[in-house]
Amino acid sequence: MIEPRRLRVALLGAGAVGSQVARLLLAHADELADRAGAPLDLVGIAVRDVDAPREADLPRELYTTDADTLIAGADIVIEVTGGLEPARTRILHALASGADVVTANKALLATHGSEIFDAADQVGATVAYEAAVAGAIPIIRPLRDSLAGDRVRRIMGIVNGTTNYILDRMDREGLGFDEVLAEAQRLGYAEADPTADVEAYDAAQKAAILASLAFHTSVPLDAVHREGITSVDAGVIEAARKAGYVVKLLAVCERLVDQPDAAPTGEAISVRVYPALVPREHPLASVHGANNAVFVEAEAAGDLMFYGAGAGGVQTASAVLGDVVSAARRHVAGGPGVGESTRANLPIVPIGRIRTSCQVTLEVDDKPGVLATVAGILSDGNVSIATVEQTTSGDAVARESGDAVAHLVIGTHTAREQDLADTVERLAATSAVRRVVSVLRVEGD
Ligand code: NDP
Ligand code: HSE
Repeated sequence: MIEPRRLRVALLGAGAVGSQVARLLLAHADELADRAGAPLDLVGIAVRDVDAPREADLPRELYTTDADTLIAGADIVIEVTGGLEPARTRILHALASGADVVTANKALLATHGSEIFDAADQVGATVAYEAAVAGAIPIIRPLRDSLAGDRVRRIMGIVNGTTNYILDRMDREGLGFDEVLAEAQRLGYAEADPTADVEAYDAAQKAAILASLAFHTSVPLDAVHREGITSVDAGVIEAARKAGYVVKLLAVCERLVDQPDAAPTGEAISVRVYPALVPREHPLASVHGANNAVFVEAEAAGDLMFYGAGAGGVQTASAVLGDVVSAARRHVAGGPGVGESTRANLPIVPIGRIRTSCQVTLEVDDKPGVLATVAGILSDGNVSIATVEQTTSGDAVARESGDAVAHLVIGTHTAREQDLADTVERLAATSAVRRVVSVLRVEGD
């Protein structure tokens, strides 16, 4: 029997993820060789500083600062350095040298994915990126392979662990945003600069990747509508709880039908990330702590949910190694790599033109005529009211003097987002409305 050629694996990066990838590659060499159909040799690890202390105890001679030479001699290049450059240049170099690429770099794929996938197509190589969305959870391969004969209607994902940790603790313990964020930073869930997570840049990158894959459409990052969670305070969470909802930062990727401007099929897509009200009985409501989950609604398969660790060095390394095995199999079997499809190239509808239902919470004067004024503004704005709940603070004396305050929680039927936004602006400008406390979309109802 002819021995299969050994495959040379180059690793770029030995941080939280890279050090675990290297450790597992060496520790599970026999199982990986069985699955891949060839032994995998870790031939080097490119880092910035070869003398830096490392999480995993790996042979010192594997480290190098010469990434270019390492890439040039590799069959498979694993990029776990992060950032846009030099990661982009190195991946293009690897593809041009005939290597397959495995990457966990969501920022890079959401920004330069088209260029990288085109380069891979030209040489018939694979760029695999299971770890780029939702860490350890298999979601890229299910969307691309398992559901290849199905059509995805909608994806709702909790794809950022940091924000889920924050919102979950606020919900379960009644804590404030700043307090939980500080603790998340102390525990290492949140970065010292939490902007990428709390302002939903990270989730938007993952949404762009999921939507591109699910809808055979190239979704640029700037087409993803993005709202973070910094305006979600303890009062908003409490009001959501009383109404039977939990607040989650959701990445929503949706196929829209019957769109007048979307010839010839009438289909378009919407990709958006925002904090939303999720009914407590929805499976996504029970995703706690820093876990991630992706809920997929498919035409034939129905509803599916993928759940687990969305980050962490060893968890993410697990997803990276699955991709390494796929890439290795292609080297063993030959033939072209798995290409990205943009065949549908559906139009991406801006947020103002989609329809959502939402819950608007207002702090208003508790005096005659206010409810009628508010209802009138909603009616003029073409926004239909589904439910209204009022809580009043202040006694008869306060009401007599005009000092009493009421909270109105208005649930709307589905309405055009632009109409909702204009209506909320008019409500905010009305003298009887002291404050628009929150406006949250309802998803998964
Ligand atoms: P780290 O910051 O922990 O590690 C980065 C590694 O890359 C370090 O070893 C660093 O070298 C090396 N590196 C950075 N720049 C260069 C360069 N120019 N040349 C050579 N080496 C370089 O990152 P993570 O391991 O946390 O993340 C890696 C990737 O995985 C990112 O794209 C991230 O988004 C993604 N990811 C991470 C998850 C996680 O939980 N950490 C989860 C999902 C995805 P040195 O050590 O010498 O400084
Ligand atoms: N910052 C990300 C999160 C890491 O909190 O989920 C994984 O991409």
